[in-house]
Amino acid sequence: MTTNPNRSRVGRTGILVLLCWSIGWLGGCELIGDDPTPGVSDVTDIKYEEHIQAIFNQRCVSCHAGQNPSAGLRLEGWTWLIQGSDFGEAIIPFSSEDSRMVKMLTSTSITPHPKDVGKSTLTDDEIGLLKRWIDEGAVGPLGASPFASSLNLLYVTHESSPKITVFDTDAWLVVRSLDLQDYGFSDRARAYHVAVEPDGSYFYVSIGSARASDKQVVAKFNRQNQLLAQYEMPNPGLLALHPNQNVLYVSRTAESSDPRSLVELRRTDFLPLHIPMSFAGNRALAMRPFGDFLYTSSMDVDQLAIVDLSNLTVAYVDITGIRQGFNQFAVGPAGNRMWGTGVFSNTVTLFDISNPSKIVQRQSLFTDGSPFDLTFIPNGSKVYVTVPTGNRIKVINTILELVEADIRHQGLQEPLGISTTQSGAYVFVSSRNQGGIYQARRVFEGEGAPGTISVIDTATDKVIKVIEVGSKPGTMGSRIVVPTFTQ
Ligand code: HEC
Repeated sequence: MTTNPNRSRVGRTGILVLLCWSIGWLGGCELIGDDPTPGVSDVTDIKYEEHIQAIFNQRCVSCHAGQNPSAGLRLEGWTWLIQGSDFGEAIIPFSSEDSRMVKMLTSTSITPHPKDVGKSTLTDDEIGLLKRWIDEGAVGPLGASPFASSLNLLYVTHESSPKITVFDTDAWLVVRSLDLQDYGFSDRARAYHVAVEPDGSYFYVSIGSARASDKQVVAKFNRQNQLLAQYEMPNPGLLALHPNQNVLYVSRTAESSDPRSLVELRRTDFLPLHIPMSFAGNRALAMRPFGDFLYTSSMDVDQLAIVDLSNLTVAYVDITGIRQGFNQFAVGPAGNRMWGTGVFSNTVTLFDISNPSKIVQRQSLFTDGSPFDLTFIPNGSKVYVTVPTGNRIKVINTILELVEADIRHQGLQEPLGISTTQSGAYVFVSSRNQGGIYQARRVFEGEGAPGTISVIDTATDKVIKVIEVGSKPGTMGSRIVVPTFTQ
């Protein structure tokens, strides 16, 4: 038993830095082409109808218009364009280089579009103008960037790039692509986990790096994607927001990741408090919905730490049976059940936490592969578990305490991150697709297989849509709050 009764708010490590950056686009985007066409290359103030829609009208609407447009993409106006195709978004505001439309028009490994379908390709000037318009925010006729006020956003990390994909869970489109390098981080920086305020006003990101000399931080961003604050700490792992107090908790990344402490940060000013732990690599992190107890566990030692948040005392319980290595926990809305994904045991394990300080290990269910992440749907009736090595999602019926469904799909190859919607109607899963089974509709020059976000309908437990995103998507965070049910 380790205690920390003083609750002194003295950070032993870490520096608080307050910084402000403007969003996304930071540099100039030169027009390319040797022979600038008057009226295209010398445009300073881009007007959607006059400059962008004019290109689409002339070059694209012969196929991308009307009731049966090619690929489901209509280009007759801004409102159509931003809805994308049958497969996802056509453009990502502020990020021309990540926009499918630009990749298709400029592709060098395959014939650029629309030449591939028998029509002439855009001039360099036209492409340059389109890129600039996207990088300036894809502003429409009424002067606004698309999806600037979307409420339900899913922030998706990437294992192979310093990016965060922002996905709108109402529109089912990628609406932003944030590059940590635009905020002063290195090319080796990686977002590890994201937590979002329930009202969507701010989001927090744990950021590590493959380069040892790089700083590792927890960063705070606002809804407009401006970086507001950073707290430096080694191996920042998963994040959990307190349901009714102004604090968030930060675990460590993986096995043996020191120092041995859990960090509490005050959300408004990032004032830190370190809660000592007896073990390293305390990755898994979950809180009761009442905000009274928090649970973490080590990847090294099969022990579970129970943190009493009223006085920050920590108690430890041994996990019995086979070696687990819990990667993540999820607590149900009634606050009396917790499930954990055991990466070594290939099981999910149920804990009875009705008496939060005296938790009882119940049964384990096999997942046919090593499970990674999990989420309750808000009514508490089911838990969805990603099983990357098994290329499947296991659905647990929490009433009967058994595996109710096994979801397999082409778009679910190496599924990692998982999140739901406030209504619980859908579950979103990020998949890495590195095994060569997923058939991308195009693989562009210099890119590996794309990752995907798959949408599962929780009424049928079927994948109803697969949206391609950047390579190797990982954990995800959304503002979904599992409601608190009284016991
Ligand atoms: C002659 C017909 C034709 C013209 C003209 C044409 N397209 Fe296409 N477009 C297609 C077809 C067919 C597809 C679907 C097959 C594919 O993706 O290659 C497609 C696919 C696309 C996609 C990918 C949609 C997705 O999500 O997979 C984009 C973006 C696109 N077109 C943009 C444009 C733009 C911009 C123009 C004008 C500069 C244009 N197209 C002109 C026929 C056309």
